[in-house]
Amino acid sequence: MSENILEINNLSKYFGGLAAVSDCSMNVKKGTITGIIGPNGSGKTTLFNLIAGNLKASSGNVKFDKENITDVPSYELFSKGLLRTFQIAHEFSNLSVLENLMMVPGNQSGEKLMTALFKPSLVAREESAVKEKAIEVVDFLNLGHLSNELAGNLSGGQKKLLELGRTMMVDAKLVLLDEVGAGVNRTLLKDLGTAIEKLNKEKGYTFCMIEHDMDFIGRLCDPVIVMAEGSVLFEGTVDQAKKDEKVIESYLGRGSKLKEKN
Ligand SMILES: Nc1ncnc2c1ncn2[C@@H]1O[C@H](COP(=O)(O)OP(=O)(O)O)[C@@H](O)[C@H]1O
Ligand SMILES: [Mg+2]
Repeated sequence: MSENILEINNLSKYFGGLAAVSDCSMNVKKGTITGIIGPNGSGKTTLFNLIAGNLKASSGNVKFDKENITDVPSYELFSKGLLRTFQIAHEFSNLSVLENLMMVPGNQSGEKLMTALFKPSLVAREESAVKEKAIEVVDFLNLGHLSNELAGNLSGGQKKLLELGRTMMVDAKLVLLDEVGAGVNRTLLKDLGTAIEKLNKEKGYTFCMIEHDMDFIGRLCDPVIVMAEGSVLFEGTVDQAKKDEKVIESYLGRGSKLKEKN
């Protein structure tokens, strides 16, 4: 049994009287691509916001690599290797693809004014290292031909790839993907899946991904965790989830999306 990279214990988040996440407990094992599914409004995005430090928990705790990270702000988690992407891509539309990647915060000395003034050669060296890394990332994602294109001109799917690329500019350990496949065409979805698998196998990333597309989940994820009404309803393989009465019922209650595409 491999160890847990993420442990969520009795986590809750209230918005006024509504519990978006309610006494939720789950673990994510190191090295997995863990899927999170569930009907709309079941608390998936709120859960990611709590883990990634974008929202404060009402109660409960989150551990990352055995360390308590409850309510630790996102920029600190970023430097610990816990990264997330957003349901809606966050690109800088007026910057090129390469520049977008170079904007990902690192520990460059150039950010410090004194270094910039007194050690310009150090800054230049670091900048070229960041650029080299960015080129490596666009090549990895098959976006090399778009390096100098403005990010605002990319298709929805290419923006999602860029979003994934941002996680590759630092040494990520755990990446949370919120509907990274949504609105992405079939061909790009395949590329996205391949990139995720490669990052998992070759760079040791653990992924936790919210997704609706059961084919995409089925191809990538083991296990899958099903959420309903703010907590965990089921955990198992995708095939088991598809057959589970409780899971089917939770989807049917709200208009099923849990159908296989042919
Ligand atoms: N910032 C917020 N303020 C108030 N209610 C919210 C907020 N964010 C989410 N909710 C509510 O919490 C519930 C869970 O939402 P969400 O986490 O976005 O679900 P999912 O991602 O599974 O669709 C929904 O009822 C939603 O309306
Ligand atoms: Mg959501």
